[in-house]
Amino acid sequence: MMSSSLQSTVEKAAAIIAKHDYARVFSHYDADGITSVAIISTALLRMGIQFHSSIVSKLDKSLIQDLDEDLIIICDMGTAQTDLISEYLKDKDVIIIDHHAAPLTSSIPSSTASSSPVIINPHCFTRGGNDEIDGEVCAAGLSYLVARCLVSDGARNIDLAGLAIAGTLGDKLEIERGLNKTILDEAINEGVITIKKGLKLGDGKIRELLLFSTDPYIPFVGKPEWVDAFLNKEGIDGDKLLGDLEDEEESRLTTALLSQIRESDVEVPEDALVGTTYKMNLEVVRSGLDFMRMIDACGRFGKAGIGIGLCMREATMIEDAKSLYMQFQNKLVAELNRIEGAGDDGIQELSNIFYFYVQATGITGVLAGILAEYVHTKKPLIVLNKKDGTDERAATKISARCNKKLLAPSEGEGVDLAKALEKAATAVGGFGGGHPVAAGASIPNGSEEKFIASINSIIGEQRRSLS
Ligand code: C5P
Repeated sequence: MMSSSLQSTVEKAAAIIAKHDYARVFSHYDADGITSVAIISTALLRMGIQFHSSIVSKLDKSLIQDLDEDLIIICDMGTAQTDLISEYLKDKDVIIIDHHAAPLTSSIPSSTASSSPVIINPHCFTRGGNDEIDGEVCAAGLSYLVARCLVSDGARNIDLAGLAIAGTLGDKLEIERGLNKTILDEAINEGVITIKKGLKLGDGKIRELLLFSTDPYIPFVGKPEWVDAFLNKEGIDGDKLLGDLEDEEESRLTTALLSQIRESDVEVPEDALVGTTYKMNLEVVRSGLDFMRMIDACGRFGKAGIGIGLCMREATMIEDAKSLYMQFQNKLVAELNRIEGAGDDGIQELSNIFYFYVQATGITGVLAGILAEYVHTKKPLIVLNKKDGTDERAATKISARCNKKLLAPSEGEGVDLAKALEKAATAVGGFGGGHPVAAGASIPNGSEEKFIASINSIIGEQRRSLS
């Protein structure tokens, strides 16, 4: 499943890494970024290569130009900064392990054209030709491919496959396809992961799982009295652990939940609620979903170190990570309830988009993702997080998400939020980008209305290109 040029680039990166005795590593703060850095850090540790790993929200010129280490490994970012990297780090060995597309203003460099930076990015291998990679691979999956080539004591780091799958779950990519499936199959064969069909809710007390289940979205999320009434009606003990339910009880719970969802006005496909669950046999948190969610929450609260510790099998980190996850869910559920109760002051609808302002910080992207996937599915959803004060330079942060059904059937057609946000943000003096289905931007304070009008019209043009 792996194209020969991806394989040779991965091997090239591993050979470069092996020549060094020290590495500077950077990564992004979400579950994919944290699992990526944990995979690379563990592989380096096992080879006796010292390292300094940092989680950053962005790679900018000031950070890049001050780097003086001989080996720099950048995970889950870096593709957008290849010009800066080539300019300031030309004498260094730089490895970029990323899955983001290059911005509109620059073309993605060929992965094999130069020796540094070495770019391991599926977008380098999918521009026509025979080398196409089947399915989308996240940075953790790519980091795992590199780690597999970093052999120490004859071992190939296959035990780290659980982290690759956790990163893939975090980015919500299809696991049972292409390269991801190759990684999964290897993990299953080696006993690293066990799969099972069941409810995709994680593990814990059923009452709490239902009360805080935002993804998949349970219609009575955040409403304890509804949850209790539902459990009483179905005769299910909410204090029981989901993993302890008999098959018959889990099947009854599943049928009842699916029927609740069908009766509600949310759009939760059956396979979002029920399907393959991943048990991480070697990790300190066994449920793949819980593991990913806890790592993600650590990063979002600026405590990525706890998430990395969890990935490096530090059992002492479990309680802190669990508590950060619950804090995150509480914040998310409170904001969902606020939006639901806000009526006309809540979500606004224009011809081609939905949009609204969010008050709580740190949850914008996740909130937008949940609402776009399950609640407001017909048009892209734009969420604005406006900073208080009148300073025009204080950036308003934007997260945009859309349901996959709105996506382009082929390149150059249909909704592409990365292109739309980059264009609209640049036009008002900001910047943006990301993926077709999930993108973000920062724009100057005061430019929100112009930005919203521009996004609405760009999405309109993109949708017209479909018809
Ligand atoms: O911030 P958020 O989670 O909404 O970002 C979604 C995607 O957009 C991420 O892949 C992020 O890297 C990208 N993004 C970007 N430029 C920004 C903000 C986010 O490319 N200014």
